[in-house]
Amino acid sequence: MNATLKGRLVTLEGGEGAGKSTVLAAVRERLESHGLEVVVAREPGGTAFGEAVRKLVLDPAHAGVCAESELLLMFAARAQLVREIIQPTLAAGRWVLSDRYTDASYAYQGGGRHQPVDRIAALEAWAAPVRPDLTLLLDLPVADGLARARSRPPMSQFAGAPVLDRIEIESDDFFQRVRDAYRARAAAEPTRFRVLDAGRPIDEVRAQACAAIDRFVRGALERA
Ligand code: TYD
Repeated sequence: MNATLKGRLVTLEGGEGAGKSTVLAAVRERLESHGLEVVVAREPGGTAFGEAVRKLVLDPAHAGVCAESELLLMFAARAQLVREIIQPTLAAGRWVLSDRYTDASYAYQGGGRHQPVDRIAALEAWAAPVRPDLTLLLDLPVADGLARARSRPPMSQFAGAPVLDRIEIESDDFFQRVRDAYRARAAAEPTRFRVLDAGRPIDEVRAQACAAIDRFVRGALERA
């Protein structure tokens, strides 16, 4: 294990159909190739309780759920993940790679569902006070992402039910607001974010992500 570096939180974000799963696997391998121990999490979920919340919050059967409930459930799962996985892992000097984190709430519940940013910030400060050290944003025009996402095979966790989860069935306008909110956050925090062009062929996107990881780890080593 690379004992020179303290644990860091790396997050991966992006809209629907941006190729997050493929990039996640590549980023994990790349971090490990630097001798880092990596714990992978996903949101909503990542703990037994969080996975139960995920099932609930994405279940298309709950079509009438209000935006406030949705936001609070995202943070309910996240608060558990922070305490059960993220904080102990970082304290042990390991790295956490999370498939989505707080920026997703700003993008989906803030941008998509018009929830006030100051409320989200208050929840973040209280329930999820660990800030990501590096965030890779897979950015893609909405129409392209939705075309990819909607051509995917059915999700297994809702066997026999609709193919798309409760958020994936949202309108194109919703996903445009999500994208705009992500990009605005990236522009406001250029040091933390790396925006990757997810419209490129997947090998190129993977290579962009790995290059961003290399730069970040090198920078961290120089500062250590
Ligand atoms: P994810 O598993 O990343 O789905 P996908 O691979 O289809 O993008 O995320 C599940 C959904 O939850 C996704 O539509 C985004 C949404 N989400 C929020 O709305 N707010 C949040 O805070 C998080 C973490 C996810």
